Amino acid sequence: MTAALRHDAVLNPALLEATSEPLPSPASLLTTAGRCPRPATMVGNTPVLWITEPLAPTGRGFWAKLEGANPGGMKDRPALHMVERAAARGELTPGAPIVESTSGTLGLGLALAGMVHRHPVTLVTDPGLEPLMHHMLAAYGARVESVTEPHPTGGWQQARRDRVAELLADDPRAWCPDQYRNPDNRAAYESLAMELVAQLGRIDVLVCSVGTGGHSSGVARALRRYFPHLRLVGVDTVASTIFGQPAGPRLMRGLGSSIHPDNVDYPAFDEIHWVAPAEAVWACRTLAATHHASGGWSVGAVALVAGWLARTGEREARIAAVFPDGPLRYFDTVYSDAYCREHGLLGIEPPVEPATIAHPYAEVVDSWTRCTTVLDPKLHRPGTTAPGVAR
Ligand SMILES: Cc1ncc(COP(=O)(O)O)c(C=O)c1O
Repeated sequence: MTAALRHDAVLNPALLEATSEPLPSPASLLTTAGRCPRPATMVGNTPVLWITEPLAPTGRGFWAKLEGANPGGMKDRPALHMVERAAARGELTPGAPIVESTSGTLGLGLALAGMVHRHPVTLVTDPGLEPLMHHMLAAYGARVESVTEPHPTGGWQQARRDRVAELLADDPRAWCPDQYRNPDNRAAYESLAMELVAQLGRIDVLVCSVGTGGHSSGVARALRRYFPHLRLVGVDTVASTIFGQPAGPRLMRGLGSSIHPDNVDYPAFDEIHWVAPAEAVWACRTLAATHHASGGWSVGAVALVAGWLARTGEREARIAAVFPDGPLRYFDTVYSDAYCREHGLLGIEPPVEPATIAHPYAEVVDSWTRCTTVLDPKLHRPGTTAPGVAR
């Protein structure tokens, strides 16, 4: 049977009966690809998908690394790696509890790591966690605890971290991966980078959302060993303080932060974009309708920016964008008309170009905006550098 016929037969099994050719032997079809002897081996080897119109113009586009193809999403990688490294160093003792603050994706990964390596897992979340995620985390065996009040200045994130500190103080054996500061969070993305090298051969531009900073730092660092001129474009949400904007209430989850995580590798970025929720919703829904692959807030924001880079950058530049998760978790938010109508997010098409500011402290942005000055706000406080604005 020819390869073409085998492929056609998947779509139309009657073709198999129509052929008079003998069936290939099971031994000749045997392959270990796709076999997972243990749950942890389901993680990695995610596909890349070519994304083009209407996010990019005809003949142009970018490669999306579909991390939603992992059992829990992109954060399965750092969850397993952080747990395994801590156990190897003796920081995490056999059977000791794992406690972490998470808005969901890392929680799924830690539930997997806890199951595989036999540790009970407690996840501290907040009321913004989608009910579906809450149910899934519990089903995978994690204990989910929600804080009830935001911290007066550090928001929900700080409130979650404070509760984690209390839980750690209660049990001296308990271990917290601390994804905001743990260098193993970054190092975990070596595998993702090596998959991209093998899948694409050359990468000129990498587009990543930024939350803890783990994957942007880790993937860029590993890729630059092969492609030293790689441009790293970071994507954040409006009202996130990571790149120096003031923190405010945020609808978008996953990317963005109300603190300054140590894992953000500021000098690694060539450019950053802030994206607003309505713009991410438009991109998520457009991706779903045109490519049958989409995801949550960070996927929409990254796709918007990567599409713009494909439209305006050099034609030959090869762009890779990391899509951290799939759409399921967002059916009651990004993909719910009722939710989007309630928050004024429906039917708003983003501008063809982002606004540009010359300095992250130049103005408070509330829609898609880019900036090529990237500073660590821990080192450069607002008011210490003269701002300039270019619209
Ligand atoms: C869905 C989603 N997208 C993006 C990010 C940001 O990734 P990182 O923490 O590696 O910066 C996260 C982090 O939690 C996430 O859960």
